[in-house]
Amino acid sequence: MPTDLNCRYSSTDIVLSEKRIRRLSNWILRQCGVEDHTVSLLLVDDPEICRLNNQYRKKNRPTNVLSFPSFESVDQSLFHLPVKELGDIVISVETARRESIEYNQKFYDRLSWLLIHGMLHLLGYDHEKSEKNASKMFDKEAELIDKLHLHRRTEMAQLAINVDHIATIREARGISEPDPVYAAAICEAAGASGIVVHLREDRRHMQDRDIVLLRQTVKTKLNLEMGANKEIIKFALDLQPDLITLVPENRQELTTEGGLDVLSQKKKIAKVIERMDKKDIPVSIFCDPDSKQIQASKEIGATFVELHTGRYCEAADDNELNREFQLLAEAAEEAYQLDLRVCAGHGLDYRNTAPIAALDTIEELSIGHAIISRAVFTGLDQAVREMAAIINQASLSF
Ligand code: PXP
Repeated sequence: MPTDLNCRYSSTDIVLSEKRIRRLSNWILRQCGVEDHTVSLLLVDDPEICRLNNQYRKKNRPTNVLSFPSFESVDQSLFHLPVKELGDIVISVETARRESIEYNQKFYDRLSWLLIHGMLHLLGYDHEKSEKNASKMFDKEAELIDKLHLHRRTEMAQLAINVDHIATIREARGISEPDPVYAAAICEAAGASGIVVHLREDRRHMQDRDIVLLRQTVKTKLNLEMGANKEIIKFALDLQPDLITLVPENRQELTTEGGLDVLSQKKKIAKVIERMDKKDIPVSIFCDPDSKQIQASKEIGATFVELHTGRYCEAADDNELNREFQLLAEAAEEAYQLDLRVCAGHGLDYRNTAPIAALDTIEELSIGHAIISRAVFTGLDQAVREMAAIINQASLSF
């Protein structure tokens, strides 16, 4: 393992994907042509980096990154060993976060820059030596940052709103109000970037009439969630939504319960994708944050995956929340690396959405219940704007 990563910080509100950081560090090693070397990376908080800064540099204050190159080490006796060590990098995640806010950068962007900066020091670059050395180091930093950002999302994640819940209220009375078509227009006017509807086989909420009307009225994009059944497939092919999302459907469930098991029905799902392809309808697979499902989705030609956030949203405590978050961050990264477009949703609300929105591998969040619930008290326009503000803020500050 070229990067030996250790975390020693106490701030519980900083949730990081260790796999993502390790992958980033290994990527930098590869780009610098030293993938046969190992590096030790330690993430700490401000008191710890202050202690190290004082011990090794006689500066009694926190700093963002410290580098300890092996070539400066007094112990040269280990240099003949086959595994070559570049040295140690220590980063304060607290300072990184403060600086990301100060410089209006995303948290991971700041962290990436600090890691690149620290790594270049290990490789002998030193901006403090001379102007010439400084410009050499800054040029190399800029080159690596450019490569890293080539295809990542640079603006905020988009917010697609599921209006099934409006139809659920209507169907409880079996009359014509409230109308999900009207709701969709309010959502769009308040800043939603898409409208999501699930046409269920049992028609428990959305009706065919709703979706036909939405096809005519939605100005952003219409995402039709559906099970892979014959009648609904025909409906989708005729309707031509902007996107379909394939979900598992079970008559007994209150809401979609898990991701689609693509692995066990690859041929069947591939056929649906092939038929949608002929009509230029992109397909998204709603799947659990599971590497095998993501790879299978890629193999059968899906354009998107929508990662199921249900387990993250239902986490019983902080440990479980962090574990589920890591799984989502890693799955999003993997899907992104496979050139899949990545969305996420299910159970997201006003408290748990920010960390997911901050992942720059995810381009859109699909949210329904929380927004419609809040709308009962605040009005739909306000409920949409509040969620959009959370997503916007998260995209800037992490
Ligand atoms: N994504 C999918 C695939 C769903 O089935 C649902 C629920 O209909 C959502 C997102 C939205 O979930 P929620 O209503 O919990 O926000």
